[in-house]
Amino acid sequence: MTHTAIIGGTGLTWLPEFEETHREKLITPWGEPSSDIIHGKLFGEEIVFLARHGEKHTIPPHRINYRANIQALKESGVISIIAAAAVGGIRADLGPAKIAIPSQIIDYSHGRAGTFFEDKLDHVTHIDFTHPYSPGLREKLLDAGFRAGLRVIDGGVYACTQGPRLETSAEIIRIERDGGDMVGMTGMPEAALARELGMDYAACAIVANWAAGKSNQEITMAEIEGNLLKGMADFANLLRHCLCSTIALQ
Ligand code: HPA
Repeated sequence: MTHTAIIGGTGLTWLPEFEETHREKLITPWGEPSSDIIHGKLFGEEIVFLARHGEKHTIPPHRINYRANIQALKESGVISIIAAAAVGGIRADLGPAKIAIPSQIIDYSHGRAGTFFEDKLDHVTHIDFTHPYSPGLREKLLDAGFRAGLRVIDGGVYACTQGPRLETSAEIIRIERDGGDMVGMTGMPEAALARELGMDYAACAIVANWAAGKSNQEITMAEIEGNLLKGMADFANLLRHCLCSTIALQ
């Protein structure tokens, strides 16, 4: 059975070397996931792929049915989720096209269905979310990055904003003051929902642009897409080393 899922984000609606074998069209009690659950082989290893924004990249961050996505992955037998996350870089070392494995989250999003534990409960349930990303899976990604010869940044606070607009420079100053190192729009409630269902979850953040006010250039979709294209080649390399843990140090 397939145990690892990759959730693709902006700039990653498809994995170039992925060989699809079959698809599941799942309807969960929470509704439809963003895309079919796509099974196949990546670098010879069985994985499952889900396009967070839909296969045509049409679902904005605040409209994603995060509960359906995580539930569908759970139902298809997934136990570990590697989430690709496009981010704006706030910290000085998080420039465009860099890759980081974040270690913490601050959630600024609002109005999203963010828990499975809501109705028809036997007991009110509070998950421990002290460490929002699974430490073992983070280590695996960092180790893969090292073996791939990539400069992967270990740690950092992912700030999740509501979107779909980008932030104001004052918002980025505030997020930085709060301790945020990078900013994205989809990390929450995805990470918390995975924890609620007992699944391992870690993110691979790919810096698409300097966050608002961190450079004097306007942030354009062309810039975001260009940097993600560069970062994605590294992400694919990291995945190859993560999935094939036997690849020797090169
Ligand atoms: N802000 C929020 N989300 C993002 C950004 C950003 O600057 N870049 C890519 N995703």
